[in-house]
Amino acid sequence: MKAVVHEGRPGLESVKYVEMADANPGPGEVKVKLKYAGLNRRDHLVLYRRSEQDPAVVLGSDGAGVVVETGPDVDRVQDGDEVVINPSLRWPDQVDAPPAGFEILGHPEHGTFAEYITISADQVEPKPASLSWEEAGVLPLSALTAYRALFTRGKVDGGQTVLIPGIGSGVATYLVQMAKAVGAKVIVTSRSEENRRRGLELGADVAIDSQGDWDQQLNGEKADIVIESVGAATWDKSMAQLRPGGTIVVFGATAGDVVEFNLRSFFYGQYNLLGTTMGNAVEFREMLAFVEKHGIKPVLDRVYPLSEAVSALKRMDEGSKFGKIALKIESQL
Ligand SMILES: NC(=O)c1ccc[n+]([C@@H]2O[C@H](COP(=O)([O-])OP(=O)(O)OC[C@H]3O[C@@H](n4cnc5c(N)ncnc54)[C@H](OP(=O)(O)O)[C@@H]3O)[C@@H](O)[C@H]2O)c1
Repeated sequence: MKAVVHEGRPGLESVKYVEMADANPGPGEVKVKLKYAGLNRRDHLVLYRRSEQDPAVVLGSDGAGVVVETGPDVDRVQDGDEVVINPSLRWPDQVDAPPAGFEILGHPEHGTFAEYITISADQVEPKPASLSWEEAGVLPLSALTAYRALFTRGKVDGGQTVLIPGIGSGVATYLVQMAKAVGAKVIVTSRSEENRRRGLELGADVAIDSQGDWDQQLNGEKADIVIESVGAATWDKSMAQLRPGGTIVVFGATAGDVVEFNLRSFFYGQYNLLGTTMGNAVEFREMLAFVEKHGIKPVLDRVYPLSEAVSALKRMDEGSKFGKIALKIESQL
């Protein structure tokens, strides 16, 4: 099969489009012929976390396709089933944090940037009928992260004002739609006027310039909850825009991992700080049902053929990106 792997020195230069053997499903596994895969910031990050000694790995966490073969002892899935892949490996239950053995698909285990993936049958779920193949392919990781951040961790139920910095992010495009679906007021920020316009189109009530004075642009309006993933570049402004007693949920740090904040202001403000990452299989199924029920549509930035994964990875760092980048796989067959 054709696949996009990372092999060799850390970095984008070692991403290759190669021919490799596809695996037959073992007990409890299924083989899925992938139609579309989606990119996440992680696909970029792992290129720099790997060493030259690491074996080649098929990149990619997001994907959707059709089951073409089932191994022994598989009864929840059949040949011909249309499925999306849950990239959150071995986190089946609703518990506070992932158990030992948890990994994210696409490093160190082979991922979705390939014509086929062979994976545990527990990691696939029926594709929502409301989504096209393209949309289903870019849904899993970001929508799962958004769902857990907003609902399990942030407990957003409609009465709150939710501030989402960096609307260009794929996860943010799900956060806006999900928060609006339950009736919350949503404020987004972006460095780009075009992204602010698109954020409003997507349903945000207010869009402000990430690089300006937030409090001034919001006429002093504070948020009940901030869902942070930009990191160091917006952290101080996010904290300052939180109402006393409000909550900040963080799952990303695109623009810097390390921040400093004033503990005295923090405890006098009675603030809550919550970390979250990905989500479990229960949340994945809830997220799929939520997406279908509320007609949530992934926002597609651009679609590239699988063979052009390097260009797609480069696109992640272009300032004008808005939403999800997809890889079209089927045409390669
Ligand atoms: N922990 C998890 O489970 C998990 C899951 C998914 C993602 N993440 C993390 O969440 C983050 C978002 O990922 P993503 O792939 O959706 O999006 P992304 O490509 O990392 O985009 C983040 C957005 O942040 C804004 N931004 C970036 N640099 C900025 C700066 N210097 N100043 C102000 N704003 C800036 C941009 O929005 P504008 O262009 O609109 O300004 C950009 O589109 C990443 O850090 C990712 O690693 C974590």
